[in-house]
Amino acid sequence: MNTPDKDHMGYLVIDRVSKRFGSQQVLTHCSLSVPKGTVLTLLGPSGCGKTTLLRSIAGFVEPDAGSIWVDGREITSLAPNQRQVGYVFQHYALFPHLNVADNVAYGLRVRRRPADEIARKLAHALDLVNLQALASRYPSQLSGGQQQRVAIARALVLEPSVLLLDEPFNALDAQLRHTMQIELRKLIERLGITSIFVTHDQLEAMTLSDNVAVMSAGAIEQFGPPLEIYDRPTSPYVADFIGRANLIPGRCEKGFFVGPQPIASRVAEGEVTLVVRPENISIETGAGPGWPGTIAFATSIGPTVEYEIDCGWAQPLRAMVPRHYGLGTIPAGTPVRAVISDPQAAVVLAGSRVHGH
Ligand SMILES: Nc1ncnc2c1ncn2[C@@H]1O[C@H](COP(=O)(O)OP(=O)(O)OP(=O)(O)O)[C@@H](O)[C@H]1O
Ligand SMILES: [Mg+2]
Repeated sequence: MNTPDKDHMGYLVIDRVSKRFGSQQVLTHCSLSVPKGTVLTLLGPSGCGKTTLLRSIAGFVEPDAGSIWVDGREITSLAPNQRQVGYVFQHYALFPHLNVADNVAYGLRVRRRPADEIARKLAHALDLVNLQALASRYPSQLSGGQQQRVAIARALVLEPSVLLLDEPFNALDAQLRHTMQIELRKLIERLGITSIFVTHDQLEAMTLSDNVAVMSAGAIEQFGPPLEIYDRPTSPYVADFIGRANLIPGRCEKGFFVGPQPIASRVAEGEVTLVVRPENISIETGAGPGWPGTIAFATSIGPTVEYEIDCGWAQPLRAMVPRHYGLGTIPAGTPVRAVISDPQAAVVLAGSRVHGH
């Protein structure tokens, strides 16, 4: 378990937050620390408590235990409107009877800000998301991507010190989703807003975040920069959630994984799970080291070829190799050897149970 160190307090700190709804424990001792101006993504399967944790930060849900801090100030029991926290809801929740400008200015009007301030901040917020030209349209006259930008402008207009976004791209098609992810990442960087995204899409998490918190059943399973989690997952669950992984049950003896190639392990003896990414498997023919198997399935989308290799195990071994110009794929049925190209990049984890599935 890798939770942030309280001595290195972040700008936003969540300290051992727990929440129960009726008999269901929804959050269990969740701790996180988000440095100022950075983006954290909460990643996890449906129902694991992502929205509940986000709502606790916004003040829509009151934790049973634990505390939440922004810039050294405890906000655990403050009303939502006293927190300077902007929230973009899982479904944009725009007011259908208000046009774009009135949707965006809504929060300022509720707070009874003077008219000149409203006009100035509204113009700025519309400018940030490039919606000036659509200010008088109604939500029903906007595309999904435009509605999403209105929802973001509506949160930004209040100049929050923390921005929370609950699956903001869900309604968008893949291409627009990617464009919006990059646009929003740039906008957040420009404004230097400390942000938390919720998603169950690991590619989105990797595109957007400085840090990722992988959640499982109400608990933070691992926390860190996305590539660090990708390279050094601390559990089979995380290895399989961030990227794709071959989880190979086996055992260690004298500090090495017992198999066709020597792989050094911190676990000296006993049952282990070897985590090998598909891109770390190369396919060889003829005599030599590696796991013997047969090509079971091959598919290519152009730059790479993905193989399933039948090694006689419960699960096929997955390999992803570069495709060279003009070459096809190795046909199914071909006998091959699966070789770990970089033994250093294989991760040995104690225990053989692959949980969470
Ligand atoms: N107000 C509530 N009352 C009772 N149970 C709730 C309430 N809100 C959430 N839950 C339960 O808490 C659990 C976590 O819900 P939450 O909405 O936080 O999940 P999530 O990770 O955001 O899921 P999704 O990816 O589907 O949005 C679920 O089992 C849900 O049914
Ligand atoms: Mg949710």
